[in-house]
Amino acid sequence: MELNINDVHIYRINISEHTGSLPQLKKFLSGDEIKKADRFKFTKDSHSYTISRSFLRNILSQYINLNPAEIKFSYTETGKPFIEYSKIHFNLSHSGDRCIIAVSMTAETGVDIEKVRDSEDLIKVAGRYFSETEIIYLKKFQGKEVTDNFFRIWTLKEAFIKAIGEGLSFPLKDFSVTERTGNIPVLSFNNTSVYSEKHWSLHLLESESGYVSSLAINSDNVNIIYKKIPALIIE
Ligand SMILES: CC(C)(COP(=O)(O)OP(=O)(O)OC[C@H]1O[C@@H](n2cnc3c(N)ncnc32)[C@H](O)[C@@H]1OP(=O)(O)O)[C@@H](O)C(=O)NCCC(=O)NCCS
Repeated sequence: MELNINDVHIYRINISEHTGSLPQLKKFLSGDEIKKADRFKFTKDSHSYTISRSFLRNILSQYINLNPAEIKFSYTETGKPFIEYSKIHFNLSHSGDRCIIAVSMTAETGVDIEKVRDSEDLIKVAGRYFSETEIIYLKKFQGKEVTDNFFRIWTLKEAFIKAIGEGLSFPLKDFSVTERTGNIPVLSFNNTSVYSEKHWSLHLLESESGYVSSLAINSDNVNIIYKKIPALIIE
């Protein structure tokens, strides 16, 4: 699969469409992945993990010269998966019945998808995770617009911390995603850090009913291409 330097390929998987193929999909997984799939408390989480991982392997095998089951994942200290010595980078997110996978040539690429849940408490939740700037921004909205903007902010923030791979060790209140250049979200930092020196771009991805998804990448020249998931070679 051709992947140019500025391209980000986005794949979206509808989990429940593939539960019928679970026994075959499991064959793509490594021993460790099968053990992890078996440890989930809830069956739906185990299915989501197994289906996402099998598709991740099948998608990546289009870019590297390996069969899906032969791909060996390495992990950063904070758990971000990558393939050693490969030019191909990726990130994955799942929520509800969906999984999203981004493939790029940039290591610092992060995606997040969230199933939209309506709640009276969103402003309260924002108070725990969002920056002051983001909370003030969110409070301007009423009703459904609060929910929509809450999930936009959430997924943009999460995509950024997934891009840098730090997870929750990076202080969520120290950066904001609510500034705009035209219609495009821009990342801003409260303090100078190793990350604030870099060029980031944030993107709200094409929406699907009931879900919000975002991409963050350490590059300001990005060509987002939505790709069809590959047909699986199931024996
Ligand atoms: C892994 C983490 C980075 C994201 O978890 P999450 O939102 O529950 O889950 P997602 O589905 O979006 O992402 C999980 C996937 O990201 C990848 N991943 C794991 N650790 C990662 C890390 N440190 N950085 C980037 N990606 C990571 C994996 O592929 C994982 O999928 P897998 O479990 O099927 O292998 C988690 O550690 C985290 O920080 N959660 C923050 C939750 C939160 O409170 N966010 C507030 C946002 S405002």
